[in-house]
Amino acid sequence: MKISFSKILMPQKHNLVIFFSEGQKLAGSLKKIDLKTDGQISRAIKNSDFKGKNGQNLEVISPNKMSVSKILLVGIGDIKKQDSLLAENIGGKTANLLNKSKAEMAYLILDKIDGMQITFEKYCAHLLIGLRLGNYQFNKYLKSKLKERRNSLKEICLMANNFPLIKKDFNYINKVIDGVFLTRNLVSEPSNVLYPKSFAEISKTLEKSNMKVEILLPNQIKNLKMNALLGVAQGSINEPRVVVFKYDGGSKNERPLAFIGKGVTFDSGGISIKPSQGMEDMKWDMGGAGVVAGLMSSLSNRKAKVNAIGVVGLVENMPSGSAQRPGDVVQSMSGQTIEVINTDAEGRLVLADILWYTQKKYKPSIMIDLATLTGAIIVALGEKYAGLFTNNDLLAERLSDAGKKVNELVWRFPLSKDYDKLINSHIADVKNVGSRGAGSITAAQFLQRFVNKTPWAHLDIAGVTWGNLPKPTVPKGGTGFGVRLLDQFIRDNYEK
Ligand code: BES
Ligand code: MN
Ligand code: ZN
Repeated sequence: MKISFSKILMPQKHNLVIFFSEGQKLAGSLKKIDLKTDGQISRAIKNSDFKGKNGQNLEVISPNKMSVSKILLVGIGDIKKQDSLLAENIGGKTANLLNKSKAEMAYLILDKIDGMQITFEKYCAHLLIGLRLGNYQFNKYLKSKLKERRNSLKEICLMANNFPLIKKDFNYINKVIDGVFLTRNLVSEPSNVLYPKSFAEISKTLEKSNMKVEILLPNQIKNLKMNALLGVAQGSINEPRVVVFKYDGGSKNERPLAFIGKGVTFDSGGISIKPSQGMEDMKWDMGGAGVVAGLMSSLSNRKAKVNAIGVVGLVENMPSGSAQRPGDVVQSMSGQTIEVINTDAEGRLVLADILWYTQKKYKPSIMIDLATLTGAIIVALGEKYAGLFTNNDLLAERLSDAGKKVNELVWRFPLSKDYDKLINSHIADVKNVGSRGAGSITAAQFLQRFVNKTPWAHLDIAGVTWGNLPKPTVPKGGTGFGVRLLDQFIRDNYEK
């Protein structure tokens, strides 16, 4: 979607959207527009129940003496409640309204009113961000007759007299949203298109002067002795890859922040095969890796003042004659041996080697992994919160605070010796599943055995990576959850 800015003018075609708060008067430039239509807007308001409440809207089709197709009044509600998240929601809803009426282009106007929780300029920036987020659609496979299912909205123009200031706020967040969209696209791709090699190739295209992208091939992965990861990959004809993103934006001797992603491009369960019902969802079992790619790309585009490493373990988990069997024992890169009780608990096997490799090679100051790790986290938290597990209270607080700001919420779960005991194996150092209960916690305990005292947090994003219930700024499908959360987390705590 093209987004432009202009001074306030009288649009000659397309659609005009007027944002209107509860009880607002038609003053200033809005008054001028109303007068131009011989008072048609004020009459429409008077003769309807439109009060400017959030969620209300009113259409004036073919307004008098104006050549725009329609004027759409969008209620934003109580002026005192207006903050960045509400602005984004209203923007998202507006995109949906415009798409429903097959609008291709719209001019937006919002009278500058005092009393919002953020500056008017910030508010406008978030409104536009919301429009863009809500207008997202993964439509590359909607071909031929399905074209009418594509979103119609192609362009919006915000009319405001002080737009250079708005543009500054907008441009910054917009780069983060580019990363969110990259993640949404990756998560949405089917597994015949996105597999370890193609994911690595896409990652390589993100290379820039401030970010190097290194791809580890199967023989290099073998030489590093990542046998836990290799065991998962061995049943598939699609060979594994490990991708390392190295972003330099901080000072030379500053230890990097590390972000690690589970990249299972398809999870059939392996020999412990999953039921066929819903198995198609397992194309997005690379959601964690998708977030790392989106985040690293955002950091490099917005030139964040920090050093960061992103590492993703890319494998396909398939049943076959060469697949790993339940009961197999593998020796991970850390030296610890793992009894593979269930080949469907594969994400933690991949992460075991990636976490160990990252802390050993890059000595990060902190390490955060993202993984669609357990079905149990969906039972516990549904689609709203990601599960947070950490060995560090400060990280917990910082992640939780950042999440609230961008509406990507996290909820902390406990870790303890008693849970850790549940994954002791009779014949190896550790086994890859616990007992009946606490499935998400024992999965996290497993990961913790491979972080070697590094301050670490694990986000179980199985419930939040794919949205089944559409929201104004998050259409059904890949959500990109995690990119904005971690960008905010970095911005608030690590950039000087
Ligand atoms: N990728 C799945 C978890 C998952 C389930 C993600 C549903 C998104 C939606 C993971 O690899 C898995 O299969 N976990 C098992 C673990 C069990 C075998 C201990 C699970 O949650 O059932
Ligand atoms: Mn699995
Ligand atoms: Zn999985």
